[in-house]
Amino acid sequence: MDKKKLRKHYLDMRNAMEPSEVEQKSKCIIKKLLNCQIYKMSNTIMAYVDFRNEVKTRDFIRYALGDGKRVAVPITDLQSKALTVSEVRDIDHELCKSNYGIMEPKEGYIRKLDPYELDLILVPGIVFDTRGYRIGYGGGYFDRFLKNIRPDARTVGICFDFQVIDKIKEESFDRPVHMIITEERIIGYEYSR
Ligand SMILES: Nc1ncnc2c1ncn2[C@@H]1O[C@H](COP(=O)(O)OP(=O)(O)OP(=O)(O)O)[C@@H](O)[C@H]1O
Ligand SMILES: [Mg+2]
Repeated sequence: MDKKKLRKHYLDMRNAMEPSEVEQKSKCIIKKLLNCQIYKMSNTIMAYVDFRNEVKTRDFIRYALGDGKRVAVPITDLQSKALTVSEVRDIDHELCKSNYGIMEPKEGYIRKLDPYELDLILVPGIVFDTRGYRIGYGGGYFDRFLKNIRPDARTVGICFDFQVIDKIKEESFDRPVHMIITEERIIGYEYSR
């Protein structure tokens, strides 16, 4: 299947998940992430804010803030197709729905952070392969963003297990993640210890 077909197929499958299944599997994935060294060793973390049936990240953000981590979320700029990073301190009060439906910091709560400060980045995806290559919504936002992070920063893809396939044909601009966590397994285990 080509990239477009894969994207649609897996998006349809994810859209068909029951809210309770999304909730329960997300909790399991977040629990595993919180137990990883990659999390424990990170001070500054960027987490996407879940949208539709993506793995839910809000509990993770609350927990990480409670743990004393500096947490940031992406802001999408549709014109330049770039992500900027903004520190969040209270996700229950500082975010609101952007024009395209993703929760982002409201005016007054935008605290820009240099992407070079990030130790860990949670990367969303529609399909991942076992080498860490991914397919997102198709804007190239994360590929462009991951090109400019600190070379020793770690990237973790979180997704439901059915979203992991053997191989995605990678393109020159694709940036694989170091580790993938699903409700069933951890791939790239050397980064989890
Ligand atoms: N590093 C880059 N610099 C410039 N353009 C890029 C870069 N990475 C990707 N693009 C452009 O973005 C387009 C979409 O890329 P791709 O199909 O990989 O998106 P995606 O990974 O599914 O999306 P996303 O990263 O937003 O989740 C590509 O056609 C490519 O031209
Ligand atoms: Mg890509």
